[in-house]
Amino acid sequence: MAEAAVGGDPEHARETGGGSDVSTVSAAAPAEIGLRCEVDGEIATVTLDRPDKRNAQTFATWSALARIGDTLPERVRVVVVRGEGPSFSAGIDLRMFTPEGVPGQESFASAAALGDTELERLIAEAQRGFLWLRRPEIVSIAAVQGHAIGAGFQLALACDLRVVADDVKFCMKEPALGLVPDLTGTKPLADIVGVPRAIEMCLTARVVGAEEAVRLGLAEIAVPAGELGQTTRDLAAALLATDHAAATATKRLLRAAPGRTLEEQAAAERAEQVARIRALFAGS
Ligand code: CAA
Repeated sequence: MAEAAVGGDPEHARETGGGSDVSTVSAAAPAEIGLRCEVDGEIATVTLDRPDKRNAQTFATWSALARIGDTLPERVRVVVVRGEGPSFSAGIDLRMFTPEGVPGQESFASAAALGDTELERLIAEAQRGFLWLRRPEIVSIAAVQGHAIGAGFQLALACDLRVVADDVKFCMKEPALGLVPDLTGTKPLADIVGVPRAIEMCLTARVVGAEEAVRLGLAEIAVPAGELGQTTRDLAAALLATDHAAATATKRLLRAAPGRTLEEQAAAERAEQVARIRALFAGS
């Protein structure tokens, strides 16, 4: 059993520790946000839940995502990010490009009137919704079907792992709309596929399907659409079978590896292993 949540009750937050097997992190989401989070034991499932609008995202979606990260119960070890309906996410809500914008939220027109510092702060708050998915204590899995465009592609890239349906359509559309991908997606994309391929994909805004996504390392596995949920659950179960402290330390090492020299990485391995050996064999 699991309960719905968006945002969070700090009493159940990661910072202060979790409690029972099932948590209600907060009240229901306003329909405009279109996001819910269910926590069931060690697994949290974050669902983009505006299928009639293909799970288009707004600033409110990103703030709510950040809040979920802030208040995630400490016992959660796997976070699944999924989308309701035929598409994972059609990206940013295109109303944000109109002068009217999304009621109660910044549009690009109103954001353009802000000073550089305020505008950067607005983008940083949006990025916060994505960055927590890389924390070492959790493994995040994007379960992606149909379109994952722009912000949708970047949300999938923010996760550690991607399981895709065979109908997946990744597309980085921001440059075609006159913008850059700024929701933390450029680094994982370039890290995974390499700079030349990332340039080609972003600047042509072409669609990448399931077979190519697996070949490029953008997805760990592609499965028939009807098997996406079960495959994701099986992967979550396999991840949970590994000791949490060892998994956290290993993810910390692997995440830092691309930015280090071999010598630095070897030193980091030693430091992590000393801590593991002490934890496992102290007093024996
Ligand atoms: N924003 C707001 N509404 C959207 C939307 C979006 N991004 N994408 C789809 N919708 C709405 C449609 O307007 C439509 O609403 P109504 O039923 O009220 O008319 C509904 O969702 C269903 O859409 P479609 O009929 O088009 O559904 P489809 O399955 O035939 O096509 C799609 C799906 C290919 C994703 C198509 O909807 C589409 O191309 N959407 C726009 C994609 C896009 O350009 N996104 C922006 C990417 S850039 C970004 O995210 C970041 C950035 O700029 C900074």
